[in-house]
Amino acid sequence: PTRTVASRIAIDLKIFQTIASDGGCPKTNEQLAVVTGASPKLVQRITRMCASTNMLNEIGPGLYTPNALTRLLAQPQYAASIVFCFDCTQKSYADMPAYIRKIGFQNPENAVDGPFQYANNHVGHAFTWAAAHPEVFQAFHMYMHALRSHRPSWTDMYPVQERLITGLASEGDASALIDIGGGTGQTLEDFIKSTPQYTGKLVLQDLDEVISAAKSMGIGDNKRVELQVHDFFTEQPVKGARAYFLQWVLHDWPDEQCRKILGHLKDAMKPGYSKILIGEYVLSDHNAAWQHLSLDIYMLALASAQERTKTEWYKLIESCGLKIAGIYSKGDGNESVIEVVCEEDVSQ
Ligand SMILES: C[S@@+](CC[C@H](N)C(=O)[O-])C[C@H]1O[C@@H](n2cnc3c(N)ncnc32)[C@H](O)[C@@H]1O
Repeated sequence: PTRTVASRIAIDLKIFQTIASDGGCPKTNEQLAVVTGASPKLVQRITRMCASTNMLNEIGPGLYTPNALTRLLAQPQYAASIVFCFDCTQKSYADMPAYIRKIGFQNPENAVDGPFQYANNHVGHAFTWAAAHPEVFQAFHMYMHALRSHRPSWTDMYPVQERLITGLASEGDASALIDIGGGTGQTLEDFIKSTPQYTGKLVLQDLDEVISAAKSMGIGDNKRVELQVHDFFTEQPVKGARAYFLQWVLHDWPDEQCRKILGHLKDAMKPGYSKILIGEYVLSDHNAAWQHLSLDIYMLALASAQERTKTEWYKLIESCGLKIAGIYSKGDGNESVIEVVCEEDVSQ
């Protein structure tokens, strides 16, 4: 918590961007304090803490220069990751031990009545809380954009040509790849660049406020991506698409809601042709990667949700009457792509 709170205050004090400015020339606490009129003593306490965790360099007593991480955190989309993760979940972390004691040490499994609601006195899902807090909401989408630009793309692990493009219908809904809960379009934008040979329709689906944010960011202006407001707890309007893509969506929800989301996709799929592609962590059953476990606790605090092991993914998918056709991965600590087909697609 000390590292996180110091970095969150450093963002408000504009410490990273100031240290990175003017070609990164060395700066004192007094110079850094002028930017926001802060107390130099407070700035010193925050900068030296950030230096101790390599967010910046301390080259002499109270004298700072930027390193690669400082330069990243100086950019609004990277600073947004700290703003979102702190502002949205810190209260949940702080109150989670009390909440867990209160519920008799059970595993929280209700997306709208868990640690987040307890800590924030909120009725509804964490997403509705975020949507009602414009700065947090904006930070969330900036964070998702920044995050995606640093991770292997799903197309680096999944054989798109062999599994999607071969046999692709030339037009209409059957040619579609739909990014469901796709945020402000970061993944589809990357897909257009990395896979220009996919000539089918591309659809971005998300909630009203997110699609509006995507529009204001210019997504869809090139006419390549169709923007569609869609609540994934309702009937999927695009039937028989080539691929229904869900990246970092199911980890936001307990199993019960995941079954509803997947059920609507199952109803829309054309057996022998449509696939659901799930971009998520697949945890090892033994000695799982720390990145996976860290996000698991984060999802608990945010949404009474979870990361899933391979065994849990099979159980969830099969409980929906669907089948996992393959899991494609790229290295420990990264996401995987889980290809899901209709139960009857034995040869897929
Ligand atoms: C963790 S983000 C993932 C965004 C994107 N898929 C990615 O990987 O960058 C989850 C997304 O699900 C969306 N979402 C939440 N509830 C939804 C619902 N009921 N229907 C559609 N989208 C929803 C959120 O708005 C958010 O964009």
